[in-house]
Amino acid sequence: MSSRIADDKINEIRERVDIVDIVGSYLPLKRSGANHSGLCPFHAEKTPSFNVNAPRQIFHCFGCGVGGNVFSFLMRMEGLSFPEAVRRMGERVGVEVEEETISPAEEKRREELEQLGRINGVAAEFYHKVLLDDPEGAAGRRYLRERGYDGEIARQFQLGFAPARWDALTKHLTEKGFAAELVRDQLGLIRAGNEGREYDLFRNRLLFPIHDLNGRVAAFGGRVLDDALPKYINSPESPLYHKGRLLFGLYQAREAMRHRGEGIVVEGYFDQLALVRAGFGQAVATCGTALTADHARLLKRYCGRLLLLFDQDSAGLKATFRAMDVLLAEGMPAAVITLDAGEDPDSFLRKQGAEVFRERLTQARPVLDLFMEQTLGAAQGDVAATARAVEEILARLRLLPSDIERSLQLQRLAERTGLDAALLGSKLPGARSAQPPATSSAPPPRPQLPPPRPRKAGGAGTKAQEWLLRLLLAEPTVRQRVAEEGPASLFIDGDYLALAERILQQGGDGELAAEKLLDDSLSEEQTALLSGILMKDEELFFEVQESVFVGCRQAVVQEQKRRRSKALQQLIEEAEKRGALEERVAYQRELTEINRKR
Ligand code: UTP
Ligand code: MN
Repeated sequence: MSSRIADDKINEIRERVDIVDIVGSYLPLKRSGANHSGLCPFHAEKTPSFNVNAPRQIFHCFGCGVGGNVFSFLMRMEGLSFPEAVRRMGERVGVEVEEETISPAEEKRREELEQLGRINGVAAEFYHKVLLDDPEGAAGRRYLRERGYDGEIARQFQLGFAPARWDALTKHLTEKGFAAELVRDQLGLIRAGNEGREYDLFRNRLLFPIHDLNGRVAAFGGRVLDDALPKYINSPESPLYHKGRLLFGLYQAREAMRHRGEGIVVEGYFDQLALVRAGFGQAVATCGTALTADHARLLKRYCGRLLLLFDQDSAGLKATFRAMDVLLAEGMPAAVITLDAGEDPDSFLRKQGAEVFRERLTQARPVLDLFMEQTLGAAQGDVAATARAVEEILARLRLLPSDIERSLQLQRLAERTGLDAALLGSKLPGARSAQPPATSSAPPPRPQLPPPRPRKAGGAGTKAQEWLLRLLLAEPTVRQRVAEEGPASLFIDGDYLALAERILQQGGDGELAAEKLLDDSLSEEQTALLSGILMKDEELFFEVQESVFVGCRQAVVQEQKRRRSKALQQLIEEAEKRGALEERVAYQRELTEINRKR
């Protein structure tokens, strides 16, 4: 059972594994858009109806209805239990899964993590309130306004302001009953001063909360309002915050990334805000750190391509190429957006506006092109330097997952250097070919679970229920409404109803709830249903929301009537046997009435 392996372990493993790699090691997959497809390994077919969706990290076969996440795939493919599948993947990505029972120490650690989460949440709320309408937040409001941001952005990103006092947060948290030591030792939001007196880490700074993927505040970045140094300080690393694993704005950017299939990576908090304000909601910022492999894996779940947009100076270019190496290793395509020298996205957008920026966006160049140009350019025709540059470039070409692209790049390199393409090609023996099987030493995989029955054709209201589930996953307002109306008045089919209830129980972000649910806790039918829904990336039209609700309610009412009428027929028969004439007439009347309405 999943509860025996710590959730954060499962999450960590799920985040590090790429389902496309795993599935691709069992069967050939072809890429088409955001999806990869192939012949379903779980039933016999001649045309591919088996799909793998990288952004959502799920698979689904439209032929036989099997679906789920990477763990479900492995369970079915190798006949493993859930913990075994998690363990297997853990080994692959170097995450150790401890014993299955939760020790009291582990229990305590988990409780502490939750407490830390609550503290960060309370702190964020406090700072946010100060910024929005406290007299102490006036300076912060003015600063934000001067940089052109309104309350809407402040609310969207839960921006805050730390009052210019030594102990504003310390006091607030103490009043709320939180132990100052915990905040000090684990989160670093409070620091130890002289004579045992504590003081706040953030004072007189505009604060940017960094949310994790559950929307919880993991850390803060804080900017001074003037030219004082350091310009930014950030929460220290903590049990909740590893800067190499979170990106500022990712929580808010996920939908836009999925929608556009690409993400924009910038360096600064304000660069990110500037892009969002200009309509580029798919932007995220690294928080004062280089892009890491963990970042790349995280981003891969939401989009298939990245646009790198670092500061337009030599440091920015260096960071770009460092990111390129990380992304090449992770198989994530990336292009570079070029702005005028010396600008950052924030200053560029302010001076030139969104339209000019959009143009730059369309002119983004594959990062490898830029690398080739820069590296060869720097060699300035010097023979030894050019030879070194070519080696550098070949080392990157080796990492390209597509042999077609590799061959194209090789040709380009040949043209640029005047070297023989065949010679260059012969220097690429280590090229990464199609992924080797994950378990080459293991016996050939055989499906051990019985294939599920094909899903039955949609009955009354099935479509509406499917849509409502989809809305439920995407829209917090819908979640609230369904919770208020009670899912049982909207879903008739047992599996749909169960899914809706589980999604509501999980609370928080609906899509993440879905991802968690796919870990083992659903029946096979429900897993298939959910992966099918997640796979069909149809546009959600908000206008149809109301009619979806109406459709569901109608279906429920119809079903209730059908059942009642069946029951009535039985009751009539019984009443007749007993000779209870009056009863019989009453039932008959009700039945007639129902049938008339139906
Ligand atoms: P920049 O110095 O480019 O700042 O640092 P910026 O984002 O353009 O900020 P504004 O526009 O002057 O307000 C880029 C990023 O590097 C990190 C921050 O994450 C910042 O957004 N940084 C910078 C720090 O962590 N500490 C610093 O002292 C400076
Ligand atoms: Mn800036």
